[in-house]
Amino acid sequence: MSGPFQLPDLPYAYDALAPVISSDTVTLHHDKHHAAYYNALNGLVEGTAMAEMTLEEVVVKSGNDASLAKMFNQAGQAWNHIIYWEQMAPGGASTPSGKLAEMIDRDFGSFDEMKAQFVQTAVTTFGAGWAWLAMDGGKLELISSSNAGNPLAMGKTTLCGVDVWEHAYYLDYQNRRPDHVKAVLDSAVNWSYVGERLEDAL
Ligand SMILES: [Fe+2]
Repeated sequence: MSGPFQLPDLPYAYDALAPVISSDTVTLHHDKHHAAYYNALNGLVEGTAMAEMTLEEVVVKSGNDASLAKMFNQAGQAWNHIIYWEQMAPGGASTPSGKLAEMIDRDFGSFDEMKAQFVQTAVTTFGAGWAWLAMDGGKLELISSSNAGNPLAMGKTTLCGVDVWEHAYYLDYQNRRPDHVKAVLDSAVNWSYVGERLEDAL
């Protein structure tokens, strides 16, 4: 792959998230879908000032300029999937602790209630998009975004994102999006890593 933006390697083995997410899904999702966003982004930034920016800068700029919508679709998706892969961990903490646990209890009532609302946010995201746990003004919130949308472009802190494009779950769960999202939140997300993201932002 050539160009200023380089697809990061998957931070674990392709079968590391099975059975929640199969090796086949992870392979296609990382090596084909995620790679394709990078390829397209590199083509779009070629010869522009954006080729000198960080990926985060491109996401924020293109996400707030309607004339750069095509760029945002690729840059947003390139960035969203980094968040997605990094937050998953085989053997990671399955419940939050510390400040994250405190803030989830304060803002949602309980971890179980937050997860239930997270699933609902994902289920009610119409078509392709993402459901996010984010922080804005010191408060946690759940956000539904279409296509490549993300909290970064909205000026909020991104804590956890679940991809609800069909490519994320259709091989393993077919149309059962709620089952997939619940399994990811219960058994694939490393909540201690999400807690570190929160601490870094406080
Ligand atoms: Fe995806």
